[in-house]
Amino acid sequence: MSYQAEYSRSIETPELFWGEKAEALAWFKKPEQILSTDENGIYRWFADGELNTAYLALDYHVENGLADNLAIIYDSPVTNQKRKITYRELRDDVAKFAGVLKAQGVEKGDRVVIYMPMVPEALVAMLAVARLGAIHSVVFGGFAPHELAVRIDDAEPKVIVTASCGIEIAKVIEYKPMLDNAIEKSAHKPNSVVVLQRPQAKAELIPGRDLDWNEAVAAAEPADCVPVKGTDPLYILYTSGTTGKPKGVVRDNGGHAVAMKYSMQSIYNVKPGDVFWAASDVGWVVGHSYIVYGPLLAGCTTIVYEGKPVRTPDAGAFWRVCEEYKAKVLFAAPTAFRAIKKEDPEASLLANYDLSSLDAIFMAGERLDPPTYHWTIEKTGKPVIDHWWQTETGWAICGNMTGIETLPPKAGSATVPVTGFNVQILDTEGNQLPPGEQGAIAIKLPLPPSCLPTVWGDFERFRTGYLTEFPGYYSSGDGGYKDEDGYVFIMGRTDDVINVAGHRLSTGEMEEIVAGHSAVAECAVIGINDPLKGQEPIGLVLLKDGVDIDEAQLQAELVAMVRGEIGAVACFKRAIVVQRLPKTRSGKILRKLLRQIADGQAYTVPSTIDDPASLPEIEEIMSNNGLVCNA
Ligand code: COA
Ligand code: AMP
Repeated sequence: MSYQAEYSRSIETPELFWGEKAEALAWFKKPEQILSTDENGIYRWFADGELNTAYLALDYHVENGLADNLAIIYDSPVTNQKRKITYRELRDDVAKFAGVLKAQGVEKGDRVVIYMPMVPEALVAMLAVARLGAIHSVVFGGFAPHELAVRIDDAEPKVIVTASCGIEIAKVIEYKPMLDNAIEKSAHKPNSVVVLQRPQAKAELIPGRDLDWNEAVAAAEPADCVPVKGTDPLYILYTSGTTGKPKGVVRDNGGHAVAMKYSMQSIYNVKPGDVFWAASDVGWVVGHSYIVYGPLLAGCTTIVYEGKPVRTPDAGAFWRVCEEYKAKVLFAAPTAFRAIKKEDPEASLLANYDLSSLDAIFMAGERLDPPTYHWTIEKTGKPVIDHWWQTETGWAICGNMTGIETLPPKAGSATVPVTGFNVQILDTEGNQLPPGEQGAIAIKLPLPPSCLPTVWGDFERFRTGYLTEFPGYYSSGDGGYKDEDGYVFIMGRTDDVINVAGHRLSTGEMEEIVAGHSAVAECAVIGINDPLKGQEPIGLVLLKDGVDIDEAQLQAELVAMVRGEIGAVACFKRAIVVQRLPKTRSGKILRKLLRQIADGQAYTVPSTIDDPASLPEIEEIMSNNGLVCNA
């Protein structure tokens, strides 16, 4: 089969194409409406189909010969634990935990927030929620109580599931006090909290509200799968937008299951029984799609790795795990390989491991810089496949579809649009640009299955944030170009979203926090290049008139504020005092210009600039502080 034939069919006859792909699933009721529109006029997939995603991920395999296959391999160098869980065991654990949630009143459509580290129980909790037809919202463990509180207020969960702690290399991070703090801050209160006690830290339980995971499971009756409609939500995953309030990306059951199952074969080229390792975290979209749902829907074995690419214990960790479990696919963020490269530039630790089972290394989450791409190929001898993704889509928008036809790769490109994604490069007027010209990357509607149909509780935000800039298209927020062969090159965000160590963060949100300091009149937070993490946020701060404060002290206070509000994962470490910020005459800070200066790009001075003299001044300050990239 050729990629071009498959792609053309998906674009020219999407209903036929996806109707066929939907046949691969054991629906309770097969969909007859393949593509329709909802009450908001948004395209929806498989609206009248009935299914249960947890059934398809577990029970279906147990009933069809994979009961004794491994569903999960848990490998935790930070606790020295390893565990193997079969499909039958996982199905039983999930049914029991669904019983726990059901006993707490969780029903179809209810929300459950999950705030957990990388332990198998996080997957059990997610699948148990799905089993009940309820909606999970996993919050990444690196987020601080404030972020968690914002998500609790937005999702309004009936129950929250957590663990007593997570482990960051050797540091024990107590989750429960952070959750208690978040619940205190939030207006919405859950009925109950289920706590997985880990030996590294014992959480105090609040009588009447908190339940011990093991005790609750011991007392629970297993619960059955509840059928849901194709368009019923499976989960909400919050992601950073341009403002302080994260967006609740909604994922529906039907389109997601179809896309996940299809992608496992067509993009990653795996089949039931293969071992698939996404070295991410269940708190991110990659974790949802390719630690949990993709591999399990495809009958693969997924690896749940509670560790880092380095320091747990060394830069050979990835190679060790690949060898030990015969991983066929490794999927991680480029930053992970940059971290390995930094500690072991010659990849000498690789000599200790046999990677013969590994077919390919996939990367996503941020731009794959050519040096990291070449280094990984050279050292591992494996194909390295860059693919471009967003939380909003849940799977790759551009990639090399190795299960259909492997195209010759090009460094710096995420290859070509994935089937179903009609990717176009547009100018500001919405005209399609010719090859080689850089513009906004947009996707012509309808989006394929799995992409978000709305923002949780805020359809207007979905409409204005994604659909109005270019009518008839979804605006991705990324810029880039296509070359003569149709290969897509992603050049980075065109908005205030940055990617730090593969973590998506909002500079707008950081600005709101920094501006809250009593000495700060105004500020701009921008992402600057970082050799390890890709980007790092820095603050340019204008002080209020008459304020006299030591710069080092101010920086320390601002760093603590951002860390306290967003979490350590924000990596906000520097704030520089400036005398002026470049602005338009209407008073808007020219952030794009600041980003261009930081990236060492040529820029045009906008005619709307209020004070052109502010530009050389800010350029000099940024340059003197090492904030300008010379690459
Ligand atoms: N819970 C609590 N804290 C967390 C956390 C979690 N789940 N994840 C990260 N943090 C903390 C870290 O401990 C660190 O804290 P510190 O400032 O006190 O040291 C801080 O957040 C920043 O973390 P990070 O940016 O990840 O830096 P690092 O030095 O710990 O690790 C890498 C660097 C490159 C090894 C690591 O970022 C990595 O593996 N990234 C891959 C990310 C990824 O998989 N993304 C998913 C997209 S595919
Ligand atoms: P997230 O929603 O966290 O997956 O982050 C999505 C954003 O990460 C995208 O909008 C891009 O800016 C960036 N991104 C993800 N994958 C890639 C890639 N392969 N190349 C370049 N940028 C990427």
